[in-house]
Amino acid sequence: MTFNIALIKGDGIGPEIMNETVRVLYAVGEKFGHSFEIKEVLAGGAAIEAAGCNLPEITMEVCKNSDAVLLGAVGGSKWDHLQGSKRPEMALLTLRKELGLFANIRPAVMFEALKDTCPLKSEIVEGGLDMVIVRELTGGIYFGKRETSQTYACDCMEYWEYEIARIAEKAFQIAMKRNKKLTSIDKANVLDTSRLWRKTVDKISKKYPEVQVSHMYVDNAAMQLVINPKQFDVILTENMFGDILSDEASMITGSIGMLPSASLGDKQFGMYEPIHGSAPDIAGKNIANPIASILSAAMMFRHTFSMEEEARAIEKAVESILNQGYRTLDITNGKDYIGTMEITDKIIEML
Ligand SMILES: NC(=O)c1ccc[n+]([C@@H]2O[C@H](COP(=O)([O-])OP(=O)(O)OC[C@H]3O[C@@H](n4cnc5c(N)ncnc54)[C@H](O)[C@@H]3O)[C@@H](O)[C@H]2O)c1
Repeated sequence: MTFNIALIKGDGIGPEIMNETVRVLYAVGEKFGHSFEIKEVLAGGAAIEAAGCNLPEITMEVCKNSDAVLLGAVGGSKWDHLQGSKRPEMALLTLRKELGLFANIRPAVMFEALKDTCPLKSEIVEGGLDMVIVRELTGGIYFGKRETSQTYACDCMEYWEYEIARIAEKAFQIAMKRNKKLTSIDKANVLDTSRLWRKTVDKISKKYPEVQVSHMYVDNAAMQLVINPKQFDVILTENMFGDILSDEASMITGSIGMLPSASLGDKQFGMYEPIHGSAPDIAGKNIANPIASILSAAMMFRHTFSMEEEARAIEKAVESILNQGYRTLDITNGKDYIGTMEITDKIIEML
């Protein structure tokens, strides 16, 4: 089969990790007999430099006409002087909103081989960690009304019931395919949006009686993630809470360089990207970990192309090379590591 993919490499380490991800994609294509029509387009800082805006029209058009979007990361200090909608990162918010990608799926899995890089005590993570964070992506405070003056600023958190209901449906569907356990995280003791969130989740839960549902306040959830992370299976939460908790979850699984994500709507189309940013501090040094973006490509095979075998092949290749002891700098003690390109070579050999 031939798949149309829009490729946005982005800024900082984005181009490095995406070049490696494309190499893995072609290796999977060769192994399973697929071909890819890859169209590279710009967004973020690279687009500001080349086209004078963070999201050129052609980028949106190509993304809309693709089966999936693969994205590196955008942003960097070079564009820190830009305000509001002109910032590189705002391109991603527009892309997600315009493409109707309201569900961000972030698996946080600790590979057995990496348990020593987990900053928690070994008894806390004994037996491994495997959870999925389902984060609402196109509502909440990042998209609410805003106002700024010299001495005042305001960002509003807003949610409609339908926005909560559709992300809750996604989370329950995922829970049904896993251990049928869902924790919905909110701040219902303080926020009206959270009270609507809780009520709506309870309403949707009636359609999924097999799923065990609990509610937790976000401050407690931040604590529980470090004292007892194994209690979580599927976490459902709103946009900003999910943003913060998924970074926390990523660190307890080893490194932010390991975690992929999928942004989905109500069709097969999806946008796939690592959860980390553009890491300008390590850009251009061939030391960035490409595994988060390579695993994001695996999620693309699973969620958009419905090709579980191809997805598993990538995930198994990653697991195997970690078991063999290959590491990038971020997942070592600073010694005995290989580069971005070299670790990808190992993954491709394993495939
Ligand atoms: N989706 C996105 O495009 C996205 C997400 C978050 C941040 N950003 C942007 O990225 C820029 C840098 O942000 P930040 O420093 O807060 O977050 P970051 O995720 O880029 O980096 C945080 C730390 O993790 C390290 N790191 C990140 N990815 C890594 C990888 N693949 N391998 C090894 N180490 C890795 C970095 O070196 C840094 O020390 C900012 O402009 C920010 O706005 C973009």
